[in-house]
Amino acid sequence: MRELLIIGIGPGHPDQLTVQAVKALNRVDVFFRIDKGDAKGGLNSARDEILRRHVTRPGYRMVDIPEPDRDRSPGLTADEYQGAVRDWYEARARLIAEAIGAELGPDGVGAFLVWGDPSLYDSMLRIVDRVLALGTVAFEYAVIPGVTSVQALAAAHRIMLNRVGEPVHITPARRIADGLPEGLDSAVVMLDSAFVPAGFDQAGLSVFWGAYLSTPDEVVISGPLREVADQITEARAALRERHGWIMDTYLLRRDGDGKPAQAGF
Ligand SMILES: C[S@@+](CC[C@H](N)C(=O)[O-])C[C@H]1O[C@@H](n2cnc3c(N)ncnc32)[C@H](O)[C@@H]1O
Repeated sequence: MRELLIIGIGPGHPDQLTVQAVKALNRVDVFFRIDKGDAKGGLNSARDEILRRHVTRPGYRMVDIPEPDRDRSPGLTADEYQGAVRDWYEARARLIAEAIGAELGPDGVGAFLVWGDPSLYDSMLRIVDRVLALGTVAFEYAVIPGVTSVQALAAAHRIMLNRVGEPVHITPARRIADGLPEGLDSAVVMLDSAFVPAGFDQAGLSVFWGAYLSTPDEVVISGPLREVADQITEARAALRERHGWIMDTYLLRRDGDGKPAQAGF
């Protein structure tokens, strides 16, 4: 039976792979890569470096799978948007099923490398379900966990994410566009295209921000939000200009301006 490994490769540093992931990489016959054609050359070179550094078994192959076009017209209604995303997922699933069928032998081991960990804001596991649901190609699959960018953020700032006995919330930025909702005191924010906290009531909030975490380009800034929000906005713009892309994550904490990172423990 064909086997597919969904391997979390961490947020950028080739040493931030688990031993389990390294062992999995060395069982792989074919690495499938979805060619997003985007500007994130840094991500591709980090993936290549991981293979160079960790795969000692010769003879593996790389297979690129094209990314289908997606209707991103700004005027789509909510239903049309859902439909466009559904069509896009289906098209992706068909291309992946075709690639697995054509490139992986009946007992072959294939793999997709997933940035960070597959459980956090990544579509790979949903896509695998769809590929299987098509019924055109059969395989077993397993998930190998990876270090997330959230963990890299906490390590870079040498902080804990939660205050003692309290919850931590992880959210895409669009869900906090109007401010940190009452009752949320520690929130990790991902998928922000513009550093939304620059535009909301900043009193009593601290921020621990990190871009390109775990890579040689890592930048971190922390402090009371009202003191560092402009600095982060400016740094983001300059870094995006320099690299052509940016990935950043941050913890917002409601703990009074300027308290030390571990306040409340
Ligand atoms: C599509 S999600 C993927 C998350 C990934 N699966 C993980 O476990 O971290 C992409 C978001 O993750 C965050 N991210 C991923 N890698 C990062 C890095 N090296 N530095 C900072 N943020 C990162 C950013 O918030 C980015 O918008």
